Amino acid sequence: MFDTHCHILPMVDDGSFSLEESLNMIKMAYQDGVRAMIATPHKNHPIDFRPQDSVMNSFQLLKASVLDLYPDFDLYLGAEFYITDDYIEVVKKSREELVINSTKYILIEFDREVKYERMSEVVHELKIQGLRPIIAHAEMYPDLTKKPDKACELRNQGALIQLTSASINGKRGKKIASFCETLLKKSSVDFVASDAHGDQHRKPLLGSSYQKVVELEGEKEAEKIFIKNPQMLIAGIEIYTQKLETGNKNSPSSKKKMMAMMTAIAVATLFIIGTGARISQSALMEKAEGASQKTTQQDQNEQDDQSTQSATEISEAYAVESDGAGEAAPSAQGEPGTEAAKAAIESKYYQKLKSLEGSYTGELESIVGNMRYAKNNITDEALLATTLEAYKEEIFALESQSDNNVYAALYDMQNELEEYDFEVSKVQACRDEYNDIKMKKQQEYINKLG
Ligand SMILES: [Fe+2]
Repeated sequence: MFDTHCHILPMVDDGSFSLEESLNMIKMAYQDGVRAMIATPHKNHPIDFRPQDSVMNSFQLLKASVLDLYPDFDLYLGAEFYITDDYIEVVKKSREELVINSTKYILIEFDREVKYERMSEVVHELKIQGLRPIIAHAEMYPDLTKKPDKACELRNQGALIQLTSASINGKRGKKIASFCETLLKKSSVDFVASDAHGDQHRKPLLGSSYQKVVELEGEKEAEKIFIKNPQMLIAGIEIYTQKLETGNKNSPSSKKKMMAMMTAIAVATLFIIGTGARISQSALMEKAEGASQKTTQQDQNEQDDQSTQSATEISEAYAVESDGAGEAAPSAQGEPGTEAAKAAIESKYYQKLKSLEGSYTGELESIVGNMRYAKNNITDEALLATTLEAYKEEIFALESQSDNNVYAALYDMQNELEEYDFEVSKVQACRDEYNDIKMKKQQEYINKLG
């Protein structure tokens, strides 16, 4: 299998925070049957993540380590491009940084509240730029999940659809899983990827969703989504999504179109091989065959994502000796470059993270209170189920918002520490602690609600 969306590069975005964590993630993926991965660090994101030279360094470092440990595992570079108002200017300026493996394919993400019309316009504009957009985690946009036909429509307009492995497996609620199932049944899914962010949370696992697709649509469809389409993507070969015929499959015009498509694929393949493109198709096929035989179910691994983390001391990672510094700048706490200055920066962000933790917990408690009230007062079972599902979606939205706020703070913290040449291990410790707190809170409320 191929993982086409993964935040595997160390220290460049809100994904892996160290080489060690990246290698753990690759070990997990490898054991799950994955043999190639596209690193897709966030680009043009509202959070000020690392610049391209850091991305390249991180990619080279990881690639060299992977080659040593897993010679039959391939790593490619892409990006996850956040669509902002000025995205076309960004594309014009930094195209090579944004596309996958120097092809015309580009993985894009939107603000979660985006409307279909805006997505359609962006697909159109990117196509005019000679690019082929892939919509990352299509299941996370309410305007699409409400009406799956709109996702199919985007596909007909030339976009490719990527779903997240955990969503297919129901880890993000029934509504989202049902949307995924609908698209799969309509043969309107081009890729399933992990969108992994770490070795403890949002892990790089595809095995169980592969099996789910096999159950729903058969082995052939699963191979297309997890192996063949990713091969074509990496090699830059055209992936067709438009319907080729509307009536009789054997009509002369349908046959003509099919012949044209087959010819196009053959020409594209010859072109790739003839020009010595960076991917060896036969090598990819060999790996794919090996991988497809190894798509053993690892439900347990993915379920670990949901398991409660041991209740580590919450204050441990955030703990910076409080000296009443509050918002104090380094200069106020000692000369720049001194331990006192470092402690002041850490303390400032510690306060900020604690405040974000407080907001998250408060809002979560409020939603859980509403859920409890609904459980005690709504007698109609169907209405209760719908109401609870809606509250669960609020929790997902809250988590997403909370992630953004926390990671923005963490990156500000990292940037500021680096500005004074301080080491940044406290940033990773805070990130891990935040995830532990989140898991702990979730489990606490799951237990409370029963
Ligand atoms: Fe992502």
